[in-house]
Amino acid sequence: MQDDRLAKIVSFCRRRGFVFGGSEIYGGLSSIWDYGPLGASLKKRIKDIWWKEYVEKRDDIVGLDSAIIMNENVFVASGHLKGFIDLLVDCLGCKKRFRVDKLEQTGTSLYRCPACGGEIDTIRSKPRKFNLMLRTNMSATEDDPQYAYLRPETAQGIFVNFLNVLNTTHKKLPFGIAQIGKAYRNEVTTGSFIFRMKEFEQMEIEYFTKPSEAADSYKKWIEDRYSFYVDKMGIKKENLRLREHSSDELAHYARNCTDLEYNFPFSAKGESGSAGGWSELEGIADRGDYDLKCHSEVSKKDLSCFNEKGERFIPYVIEPSAGVDRTFFAVICDAYCEEEVRGRLRVVLKVKPALAPYTIAIFPLLKNRPEVVKLAKKIFSDIKDEVNSVYDDTAAIGKLYRRQDEIGTPFCVTVDLESLKDNNVTIRERDTMQQERIGFDKVQEYIKEKLG
Ligand code: GAP
Repeated sequence: MQDDRLAKIVSFCRRRGFVFGGSEIYGGLSSIWDYGPLGASLKKRIKDIWWKEYVEKRDDIVGLDSAIIMNENVFVASGHLKGFIDLLVDCLGCKKRFRVDKLEQTGTSLYRCPACGGEIDTIRSKPRKFNLMLRTNMSATEDDPQYAYLRPETAQGIFVNFLNVLNTTHKKLPFGIAQIGKAYRNEVTTGSFIFRMKEFEQMEIEYFTKPSEAADSYKKWIEDRYSFYVDKMGIKKENLRLREHSSDELAHYARNCTDLEYNFPFSAKGESGSAGGWSELEGIADRGDYDLKCHSEVSKKDLSCFNEKGERFIPYVIEPSAGVDRTFFAVICDAYCEEEVRGRLRVVLKVKPALAPYTIAIFPLLKNRPEVVKLAKKIFSDIKDEVNSVYDDTAAIGKLYRRQDEIGTPFCVTVDLESLKDNNVTIRERDTMQQERIGFDKVQEYIKEKLG
């Protein structure tokens, strides 16, 4: 069932232009994906809502946009060069490579190969350590390489700018620095669609506090981020849960970490290793003073603050770290519905209207009647600067409605011959499919009222 649902969602994303395989016309590239026109819109709305919520609406958080390529020493200090590793094992049967912690164990040293179904014996095929960092050469000559790294988390850009931000904004603790941007990891993965990619995007906040306030802040951030997914992303509570990390799974920098998990349509084993599809959507970590301390030591820059007694201390940091792609994936999985309407299948993407690529679609009922087309185009041109809209006259009305249902457009407006006489149009709601006649000059007002 779950595999079926995943296959349907992947095919839907492809068919409707949400997600394409990366470099597809050249046979693709493993774990690299591109977002199509509708996917790019939905993804942008997710990021805009996050940015508005945390940077624009709050005066204790400021934004940042730091570089992707970073100095090698950043990762010497952060511990990523040494500690950011996966244990990988080769299947001697099909020659594919896997993360040991993601395999189904069938005996003391035995695992099942997810690709060929054969047995992987870790005594015969010894697991090896593999660093996840992607390295690039900044030198103009091959024989004198100057290596730099693509950041594996946007967080490091925030830590290395801590002093710059402090000195230019004069913020006092507690305060946060927020960033949305790409991150890169040389992941080894199979069949998890956009869940685990080599190039992905994060929305991260590093929230700096006094050490005595860190535990309280950690709790508040967990609650805040849970509510964000329910209230702003429209995720159903039954598909969302919190899971605290055990001490042996904590990242090298974390004192504590709670994952916000979504029940993705994976079948046997969630990416977190738990039953079903429960897998990490976001991690909220208490990183203590680990990062600022390490960067102070390696860079020899003082990254401490003063307390009330005039003593220096290194702030603690609470980090809500979300994946844009996983949020996108969860939003689509949660909203994708198949319903039977009058004996026919209706696919409908019941996303929150604020996330829909288009808020409104405008059609002429008869595309061979120039007056009807003219009025429909006029309504579209009057509304498009204010509301995200699309005009379509490339099919019969039933098909036009179905297309918009599938991509999540909450309202459709149809102009017919009557509209020419009474200035009214038909407005139809996506979820209820109910239709109403309203004046065409009232469309914006109607939508505003409906969306609250
Ligand atoms: N700065 C902390 C950090 O990076 P993480 O748990 O490794 O922590 C945070 O990553 C979030 O980034 C994850 O919860 C997930 O949403 C997203 N993420 C991490 N690796 C990813 C990948 N390979 N593909 C897609 N999203 C990923």
